[in-house]
Amino acid sequence: ELRDNTIIIVFGASGDLAKKKTFPALFGLYRDGYLPKDVKIIGYARTKMEEVDFHKRVTQYIKNPDEDQEVVAKIDEFKKISTYISGGYEDDASFENLESHLKVLESGRLSKERNRVFYLALPPSVFIPVAGRVKKLNYSEDGVNRIIVEKPFGKDLESSRKLLGSLKQYWTEDETFRIDHYLGKEMVKNILVLRFANIALSAAWDKNSISSVQITFKEEFGTEGRGGYFDEFGIIRDILQNHLLQVLTVLTMERPVSFAAEDIRDEKVKVLRAIPPIAKEHTLLGQYVAANGKPGYLDDNTVPPNSTCPTFAATTLWINNPRWEGVPFILKAGKAMNDAKVEVRIQFKDVTSGIFKDVARNELVLRIQPSESVYLKLNTKMPGLYTRAMPTEMDLTYKRRFADNKIPEAYEALILDALKGDHSNFVRQDELDYAWKIFTPILHWIEGKDGIAPKPSPYPYGSRGPNIDAFVRKYGYIRSSEGYTWPITTLR
Ligand code: BG6
Repeated sequence: ELRDNTIIIVFGASGDLAKKKTFPALFGLYRDGYLPKDVKIIGYARTKMEEVDFHKRVTQYIKNPDEDQEVVAKIDEFKKISTYISGGYEDDASFENLESHLKVLESGRLSKERNRVFYLALPPSVFIPVAGRVKKLNYSEDGVNRIIVEKPFGKDLESSRKLLGSLKQYWTEDETFRIDHYLGKEMVKNILVLRFANIALSAAWDKNSISSVQITFKEEFGTEGRGGYFDEFGIIRDILQNHLLQVLTVLTMERPVSFAAEDIRDEKVKVLRAIPPIAKEHTLLGQYVAANGKPGYLDDNTVPPNSTCPTFAATTLWINNPRWEGVPFILKAGKAMNDAKVEVRIQFKDVTSGIFKDVARNELVLRIQPSESVYLKLNTKMPGLYTRAMPTEMDLTYKRRFADNKIPEAYEALILDALKGDHSNFVRQDELDYAWKIFTPILHWIEGKDGIAPKPSPYPYGSRGPNIDAFVRKYGYIRSSEGYTWPITTLR
């Protein structure tokens, strides 16, 4: 349930995440009437700024291509409920100052209830200092307090445990909302419905029917400007260990007893526990190099000159349970690639041979972005007087089928859930722990902790990555019917 008398405090309000995601999402919710009645928003950061500059900053990514006057008016209203204060992250006085500001905003209300949601869009170095001071100095005694936190949650199993352990001194699991924004994406949320509301799909959802599963993330741009952050983390921590693993978990978990948060998260943890750590033999690493006038990763001057940090990784894992035994799950992600898309590709097994020759395998594709769609490649009789099978597709493209529905942004969905206190789409502590267990050994290998750091294979900026076709073929993936491409209709 949404609670009135709520103030949302965004720490790191001058940062990238806040201006690109958090504030546009808060605005989206505000515009559509989803925020609690009389909500107030406070931006907090170190930067000294006038309120007008703050407003300009956090509204610049709000989309209003047609200059819709109603939206402009809403943005003005939104500015009125949003204030800014600057302060440090490591001194009590700043948080006392925040507290006085909170009290002013809260005074004059009829109700004594004071609910506070603290959103930490902060670098890891100040994460604990802020979480601790907020608890000590800004915790509301007359209402609900919630804390929303963003990755990175550590760099490996040990550091993650340390970080989470420190956070736990101050905030209970129930008050904590760990964001993995992929869990807020419409198509990811659709997976549970597709799987459990369709007997035709659930019946084929196992090792008897499925040959392999690929979860792919591609971005067309490099680390431009973010090299400093990125180099310390690499593509595995940036994308695979969190976003792609979360998608894998919802794809493979058993049916939860209900849609209640703990029922879902219990099943997610169970499937994660059945995944052994990834082996280096099943990992392919890449780093992009200059091509077509675009700079290579090492040309970024925020990146150390001889960095072996991977900007591309493909890795295969298995799930040791009766449903999935033997099925390879291939996770791959890369920056500076030929395309921008995220999809799940489930390839089914061959039909029994004998009556057909060279018939293509079925494939179910869930396109998470861009242009959400679900399509199933299936064989059909080529219309005409002969019996010949040809590959075609059943196509559910959202823009066509749901032309009038607005698809929410991931951050809108998640912030609303946090305001309602619904944890279903947030990462529980034990989930995170198992996720790190799966990835920590290869991460340490990549960093050279067991000897020499492996050198990633170079791939040109704007390409498909290093030798990826051979990699997926090893796990039985067949690129069916050469030349077949799914006809994407461009719809606006
Ligand atoms: C973030 C990563 O978590 O996800 C970024 O740190 C990445 O490197 C981003 O670009 C991708 O998110 P989306 O929603 O654009 O797919």
